[in-house]
Amino acid sequence: MSKTKIICFANNKGGSGKSTTCANVGYCLSQEGKKILLLDADMQMNLTLSFFNEETVLEMARSEKNIYWAIKKQEDLTEYIYNTSYENLDMIPSTTLMSSIEYELFTKWQREFILRKCIEKIKQSDVYDYILIDAPPTLGGWVMNLLCASDHLVIPVEASPWGLFGLANMFEFLEDVRTIVPALSVLGVAITKADTRKNYYKQTLETLKELKDVRIFDSVIRVDSAVEWAQDNSMPVAYFKKYSRSATEYALLAREVAEYGSR
Ligand SMILES: Nc1ncnc2c1ncn2[C@@H]1O[C@H](COP(=O)(O)OP(=O)(O)O)[C@@H](O)[C@H]1O
Ligand SMILES: [Mg+2]
Repeated sequence: MSKTKIICFANNKGGSGKSTTCANVGYCLSQEGKKILLLDADMQMNLTLSFFNEETVLEMARSEKNIYWAIKKQEDLTEYIYNTSYENLDMIPSTTLMSSIEYELFTKWQREFILRKCIEKIKQSDVYDYILIDAPPTLGGWVMNLLCASDHLVIPVEASPWGLFGLANMFEFLEDVRTIVPALSVLGVAITKADTRKNYYKQTLETLKELKDVRIFDSVIRVDSAVEWAQDNSMPVAYFKKYSRSATEYALLAREVAEYGSR
């Protein structure tokens, strides 16, 4: 069995902190000496933008070296990897063309497993400790592909009224996914963008704790403007502002993800 674990960050709710959590957990793990490959699977390209400036991102999106073309041509993803400027951290970028990925998949044979086949060589090569996938805010054939290729799922949830709404859909979808890949594990729910002073936050936490058999990660990610400033500079927050609160929180979350995710 390969040592490389594939972890997908997914939640059909937009703005729940998927891209931010994926980027920062990835960076923190790379800082701990783990070899990380980030896969941006969302047409919004937010994960790519977390590490490359806008000009470079647009260039990558215009080229044929991105996830869209790899899937369209059903090629080994090895040729689609870019190095970031950080040690131990590589990236397969996205493009706005991903808006038509569902259409591309539709006509393909065994369409749930296209990504799994394209990523197989990288996984078997054991070069990476973790491959982290940033999912789009949808529940369709493409996210099915992401989950069919993954060992684990992390669900980032925003601590807000609408953050919880829709979580039931996510779990229903997971039931469907598990009929195809029963081994997929839910690593846990990561609470993001929390304002722990608010009573509402406490209520959110209570509601989440009622979920049966689902781990809620101990490290809660609180709202921190340093996160947005870091994103504005295409940098992970722990690099942009090493001693910020969120840098510490993401590092702790990364440790939890690695602890449970390496199993
Ligand atoms: N810890 C945080 N503190 C402040 N803002 C955050 C934090 N995490 C995410 N955000 C902001 O919330 C928005 C949604 O986050 P994002 O990661 O893009 O969610 P998703 O990928 O689920 O759509 C972004 O504008 C991002 O800057
Ligand atoms: Mg996103």
